Amino acid sequence: MCMFLHGNGMSTVVPAGDLFYLEEHMTDRTIGYIVGSISSNSINRRLAKALERLAPAGTRLVEIPIADLPFYSPDHDGDFPQVARDFKQAIEDVDGVIIVTPEYSRSIPGVLKNALDWSARPYGRMSFNGKPTAVIGTSQGGIATAAAQQHLKAILVHYNSPTLGQPEGYVQASPGLFAESGEVTNDQTAEFLVGYLEAFGALVDRYAQVPVAA
Ligand SMILES: Cc1cc2nc3c(=O)[nH]c(=O)nc-3n(C[C@H](O)[C@H](O)[C@H](O)COP(=O)(O)O)c2cc1C
Repeated sequence: MCMFLHGNGMSTVVPAGDLFYLEEHMTDRTIGYIVGSISSNSINRRLAKALERLAPAGTRLVEIPIADLPFYSPDHDGDFPQVARDFKQAIEDVDGVIIVTPEYSRSIPGVLKNALDWSARPYGRMSFNGKPTAVIGTSQGGIATAAAQQHLKAILVHYNSPTLGQPEGYVQASPGLFAESGEVTNDQTAEFLVGYLEAFGALVDRYAQVPVAA
């Protein structure tokens, strides 16, 4: 017998004979995440931290920052600034990207749209082409970012990104639901987030086998 302790604090006991099978089939994935808020007190950043904390064994979450990107303009197409090159490379280097975003006026915040515009240019160099993505967000309102996510998913379809359909990541924030460190104070929410990460991991693994058209 052998016990595995997962990042989420849960454990799995497996017979020793199954160890070889498990080692062969445990995937190492690096998942990037983008937070669509630059607020110093962002509840979506806390949600992202919670996902980082709950990542299952074999999955590593790393932030792809957007706060230092200047406004995109086609004037940059001939010579992108280093910060934009780094941003695009970071997307291209990971196995999948989770976008954690608030809803602003029933759509996505301008800072996130700006980052996505950099990712799509120069023409023919879409960083999200073929890259699996998942969308999730939290707001205090009952709509829980659903309208923003619909807009975002439409953009990701245009980018030729396979996007997680289910479960949908609409998280209604109550005071204290997420601690700053990423702790989730509600067990059902934590369980949902673990399932969400597992579903996205399966999508990432499936698309790892699919060649990307130029
Ligand atoms: C300009 C603006 C527009 C907003 N529009 C919406 C909205 O359409 N739907 C919603 O649920 N919350 C809306 N909110 C409230 C945000 O959900 C709330 O401020 C949330 O904390 C933002 O996420 P953050 O804390 O991660 O930055 C809006 C907030 C701002 C500043």
